[in-house]
Amino acid sequence: MPISKKFLDTLAEKRDTALSGGGVQKLQKRRERGLMTARDRLDALFDRGTFQEIGLHARHETRGFGMDDKDLAGDGVVTGIGFTDGRPVATFSQDFTVAGGSLGRVHAVKICEVMDYAEKAGMPLVGFNDSGGARIQEGVESLSGYGQVFNRNVRLSGVVPQIAVIAGRCAGGASYSPALMDFIIMTRTEAVMFICGPEVIRAVTGEETSLQEIGSAEMQASISGNVHFVAENDAHAVEIVRDLLSYLPSNNMVDPPHQFENELTIAPQQELDALVPESAREPFDVKQVIETIADDHRFLEVQRDFAQNIVVGFGRIGGIVVGFVANQPMVKAGSLDIDASDKGARFIRVCNVFNIPLVTLVDVPGFLPGILEEQRGIIRHGAKMLFSYAAATVPKLTVIMRKAYGGAYLAMCSRDMGADLVLAWPTAEIAVMGAEGAVSVLYHQDLKKAENRAELATRLATEYREQFASPYLSAGKMFIHDVIEPAETRARLALALRSLLAKRELRPSKKHGNIPL
Ligand code: HXC
Repeated sequence: MPISKKFLDTLAEKRDTALSGGGVQKLQKRRERGLMTARDRLDALFDRGTFQEIGLHARHETRGFGMDDKDLAGDGVVTGIGFTDGRPVATFSQDFTVAGGSLGRVHAVKICEVMDYAEKAGMPLVGFNDSGGARIQEGVESLSGYGQVFNRNVRLSGVVPQIAVIAGRCAGGASYSPALMDFIIMTRTEAVMFICGPEVIRAVTGEETSLQEIGSAEMQASISGNVHFVAENDAHAVEIVRDLLSYLPSNNMVDPPHQFENELTIAPQQELDALVPESAREPFDVKQVIETIADDHRFLEVQRDFAQNIVVGFGRIGGIVVGFVANQPMVKAGSLDIDASDKGARFIRVCNVFNIPLVTLVDVPGFLPGILEEQRGIIRHGAKMLFSYAAATVPKLTVIMRKAYGGAYLAMCSRDMGADLVLAWPTAEIAVMGAEGAVSVLYHQDLKKAENRAELATRLATEYREQFASPYLSAGKMFIHDVIEPAETRARLALALRSLLAKRELRPSKKHGNIPL
């Protein structure tokens, strides 16, 4: 006997209601404005026909304040599991057409359910945030809901990759949950994120501001550093999610998706020899070095607009997924300041928890000198670089291209900080401080008296470089393992990465280290 039509009709009707979110008209309006709906975003993310929804018929419990007669479809969030490029991914996608995507108790239960699923089965979590935050009418229940989500964000941290898309107007908890995840992608056109909106700021401090000023994608990507990628629109945001996932393992117990053949043939790259100017004072674009070294010139830069004096991101070398960390001589001469240290350290830790080898490209004159830097705590922030490199147990390969001075030499993963292999180009300069600084400290009396001060300083600096900063000096003492032609870099890194694939490093057991925060 086939199932009675009555049952099937009821199911179809229930499904239709739940699938229509805040109503067909509202969904249509969004599409007319060029925005995707909560479900469109999932359609774009997942391989066709692979999304299995969990909680379609979940219902809200909100009462009072105009909510009595409302039927909030799915309680404002779509949750489930789908497959992206054949790999399972847990997801939630908030529906702004349903009570502004605000988070009530059932909405939170649904998100927690897929987070637990992600933990159990070891798959990434991708969350599309489009929400006014805690649902005001549910009071402390919605706060508790956020508590449950935050708690799980932390529990999942370092276990499975967590990627947040800020796809709309995200207030309060809808900003804090993403902040606890590994990556935030934000759309340029529609999205804002903030904790206290303009009205609250005006009421408390009297300051006049706008949503754009406190929460736009540009601001969050370049000034606050909260956002890792800015997307032009929803479709682009999904593209970035997929690209990011292609470099990340499903969980911390497996390797990232390396793509290598058994045979390794890598030709020398003469273009690298031409790329770096001989004079240490002349800047070059380190992104060109990365793109030359990376397979197919593909480099997914992370936090491109923030602290541009350091460049971080993912690529492959000889098929092996790596995280690049590189000083950028084009910005602040590649020095390490507070923001660069925060950015670098965070990225190093992401790579370490997800078994991604680190390739560090060094051209650093030192930590950025300055009153504000000292007052704002360059000691504490710079220490994050030292801490995260020393704590990382993934393969660590360092190439010293030009300057590697002082504490910044150590903070860019020197041999003593645990690098497995340190290579230097013939243009490398490694010393306790830059030549000009060293000369001014050691010879300040002579320089004061000298008739032709500038000429003497230049001569002494050249002598200093030759005597104290030569890479052969460091190689002689085994601080670096070899001096190589730039053209050989990619081949040498590829070989080393291959040989380090099974690297094991055990440390004393502890709850966790105490990184300076
Ligand atoms: C209940 C909400 C809501 C909320 C929006 N809505 N936010 N309902 N709780 N938090 C509803 C609106 O009443 C409206 O319902 C619909 O969603 C669309 O909202 P609009 O305001 O019309 O949209 P828009 O003009 O685009 O503005 C979006 C917004 C704004 C900027 C997000 O709605 C807003 O400021 N909301 C409040 C943000 C906030 O303060 N949230 C609490 C944060 S505290 P109708 O029925 O008219 O369509 C928090 C604590 C968590 O999250 C813990 C943090 C650590």
